[in-house]
Amino acid sequence: MGDGRALVAASILNADLANLAREVRRVVRAGADRIHLDVMDARFVPNLTFGWGTIAHLRPVTEAPFDAHLMIAEPGRWLDDFLAAGCDSITVHVEVEEPIEPLLRRIRAAGRAAGLAMRPATPMSALEPYRHLLDIVMVMTVEPGFGGQSFLREVAVAKIPQARQLLADKPWGGEVHVDGGVNRETAETVGGLGADVLVAGTALFARGRNAAREVRLMRALADEGYAVELNDGVMPEPRDRMARLASLPRPLAERLRDAVQAGGVPVVMLRGDGLVRADGARDLDLFVPFASSAWVEERHGALRDALQAEAEAAGGAAAAPAAGGADDGGDGRPPTGGA
Ligand code: DX5
Ligand code: ZN
Repeated sequence: MGDGRALVAASILNADLANLAREVRRVVRAGADRIHLDVMDARFVPNLTFGWGTIAHLRPVTEAPFDAHLMIAEPGRWLDDFLAAGCDSITVHVEVEEPIEPLLRRIRAAGRAAGLAMRPATPMSALEPYRHLLDIVMVMTVEPGFGGQSFLREVAVAKIPQARQLLADKPWGGEVHVDGGVNRETAETVGGLGADVLVAGTALFARGRNAAREVRLMRALADEGYAVELNDGVMPEPRDRMARLASLPRPLAERLRDAVQAGGVPVVMLRGDGLVRADGARDLDLFVPFASSAWVEERHGALRDALQAEAEAAGGAAAAPAAGGADDGGDGRPPTGGA
């Protein structure tokens, strides 16, 4: 994962299909964060690609996450096969003629990320009934079925902000994917609209392209767009940045951790070099993903404050924090060491 915000998912639809394993290895080496797998059945879209068998054979080729994009008429009929093949996320189309909710529930029950995609003409409102079950909203900026089409800018401008809004009450892990015509010319636009994952096919696999250069350019331009349009000119935080939430004695730290994690945000609890209590035990430091820190502060800040007051009332420090402190170096990353 690069040290910025934007992620690049390589769509292998336009890769050398006679050498898919080699192409997957090559594009991951070039820096792609994900492999985007375009499954088409010549019914839902007028094209036919590969199925779960190909995916299963590709699975051992790389550790990179597999994002399956199912452009098929009956995703429910084949879902177990795609799950068994090793897809990390499965995105189906909201336009399919079968119940959507069971599909999303089955994907999540298998511990994978569940997503909905929509054709350019389908309104975002079609996804509204399922927002509580979504990890991914995939905005198609071309008509699904083929790579190499032109980017539909007006669709992106209208729907990427709506997709972010649809995921706004998800404390952590929600992703807006933009798929179709994404390249170095359009990356700044989609980054500025707040897309998280840029799906790119032709940009990476067209003859003569340097995939590593295209990945670097797309990420940098998307982050630049995000900084200018959504972050007051400040470059976005790296995705893996953590923010310190509190330092507390273990029993209180565990209460806060459990409350925050019950809300869907992961907590890292580390033995820092903070306060040593009268009983000789040292406080633990709690960290959450920086991207969720405002959400956590809003919902759990009062509990954190109450627990800190409880810790103070129960007995203060036996010794001041060690010189240098459990500082995260100001970059929000947890110090080394474990709890
Ligand atoms: C189109 C697919 C896209 C497409 C992207 O139906 O869902 O993933 O392959 O290819 P480019 O980047 O060439 O538009
Ligand atoms: Zn796709």
